[in-house]
Amino acid sequence: GERRFRGWSGKAVRGPPPRFEWLRQELNQDGTFPGGEQPLSIVILGASGDLARKKIYPTLWWLFRDGLLPDVTYFTGFARTPLSVTELQERCHPHLQASPGEEELLSRFLSLQSFVQGQYGEAGAFGALDQHLRALPGGPRAHRLFYLALPPTLYGTVTQHLHSTCMAPGWTRVIVEKPFGRDLRSSEALSAQLGALFREEQLYRIDHYLGKEMVQNLMVLRFGNRLFGPIWNRDNVACVVVTFKEPFGTDGRGGYFDAFGIIRDVMQNHLLQMLCLVAMEKPASTNADDVRDEKVKVLKSIDPVQLQDVVLGQYVGDPEGPPERRRGYLEDPTVPPGSSTPTFAAAVLRVNNERWDGVPFVLRCGKALNERKAEVRLQFRAVPGDIFAQRCKRNELVVRVQPREAVYAKMNTKRPGLSLQPLEAELDLTYGSRYRGVKLPDAYERLLLDVICGNQTHFVRSDELREAWRIFTPLLDAIDQSAQKPIPYKHGSRGPPEADELLQRAGFLYEGTYKWVDPHQR
Ligand code: BG6
Repeated sequence: GERRFRGWSGKAVRGPPPRFEWLRQELNQDGTFPGGEQPLSIVILGASGDLARKKIYPTLWWLFRDGLLPDVTYFTGFARTPLSVTELQERCHPHLQASPGEEELLSRFLSLQSFVQGQYGEAGAFGALDQHLRALPGGPRAHRLFYLALPPTLYGTVTQHLHSTCMAPGWTRVIVEKPFGRDLRSSEALSAQLGALFREEQLYRIDHYLGKEMVQNLMVLRFGNRLFGPIWNRDNVACVVVTFKEPFGTDGRGGYFDAFGIIRDVMQNHLLQMLCLVAMEKPASTNADDVRDEKVKVLKSIDPVQLQDVVLGQYVGDPEGPPERRRGYLEDPTVPPGSSTPTFAAAVLRVNNERWDGVPFVLRCGKALNERKAEVRLQFRAVPGDIFAQRCKRNELVVRVQPREAVYAKMNTKRPGLSLQPLEAELDLTYGSRYRGVKLPDAYERLLLDVICGNQTHFVRSDELREAWRIFTPLLDAIDQSAQKPIPYKHGSRGPPEADELLQRAGFLYEGTYKWVDPHQR
């Protein structure tokens, strides 16, 4: 096939002055920042696709803009269709844009882009990619980072070619995105394929929730405070609820979604990862393998989820709602007619170890719900020996991942004034007010930086992935074989009421007397 190299200026361009000099220094002290000397090639396979357009190129631009990439970094897109810098910019609109004063930086970033066109199954195309990478300034010495922004069906072929033709003179690292298979069997097959070609330290399996500020904060909150350690167990915690809600439906993404469903899309990965960070023991250190060893132990203590511990739902249009809520899942033209794929799921998991025996961990997630929210909530047991005529409510600790990051603890306090009655209030750490003006980086920014620094803490190890599939595969098989349809719920509602009943049965007490109010709006 025809191959075109376009957009590359051909001369070495040094990166921008590092805006985040402190971060570079911090990373340097750990000895992990690749530093200025060793050139880096970042290769985006699937450069014309959705992920590249929406996430990868914008993230690379932000990292470049903030001076967080090695001084000599070149970006190469590989795709079946030819692509030019202008097309790239158009596709990434509005993310690849310069704020006032950044124009020169952006044009410098764009001048470092190049594209190689080729078929994924064609060895020659990868030979050409290799030659191209070698011809870049610093190319003969450069590290190579390959981002597989591709459907997993192509992983096997593409990694074969990368392995035989495109290995770097320096290090080679490969980023893969979910879905890592559809179940334990397919995931194991995929892992075996990749594992035969690359060592575990070369493989970066992204779960972007692990790159979120508040998800990363779970470790610091838990292990950096004496306040929480002693009560973080079955003696004090009644129930843990991990929630993921989105206010929009599949909206044209039904083709992908329908083949997977909400359990594979978010529960088996994002929610389960958050559960692990809540439930795990303190790792020996913050090193990647120490942390992941503890996560794997948690997963090993969880039995496969049973169908009777699960509520499944599928959204239907709300004829009285605003226009965007009128369309149900089955009316999305990209969804196969009559599909019984769940768009909502709530499941009770049990961590059968000394710390958590008997404590339900409820995971619930859904599309087309009433709000956008992701949070982790620990509900504590009632205070024993009540002397306040049962007016004290259970304490809750909530880590809100998004939107409006916050950590707050629901607690009882004396009603201010002459009264001695308990009143529900909160200890509130809302990031927007405590850290005014601090911009939290996007999950992908942190994760890409981690890959460049060689830090795997926030990436999924192969045994972790295997355990995650072990927990959900029997359930997914049972769902596929069951003739039962998911429970319909209205677009824009809280999901099926049966999920609230499941939560209640599990032991979560919903009082309905408290509502968190953003301090800015109090
Ligand atoms: C993705 C899922 O992994 O996460 C999507 O495939 C979901 O269905 C998305 O919308 C949510 O991510 P975020 O960062 O917007 O909460």
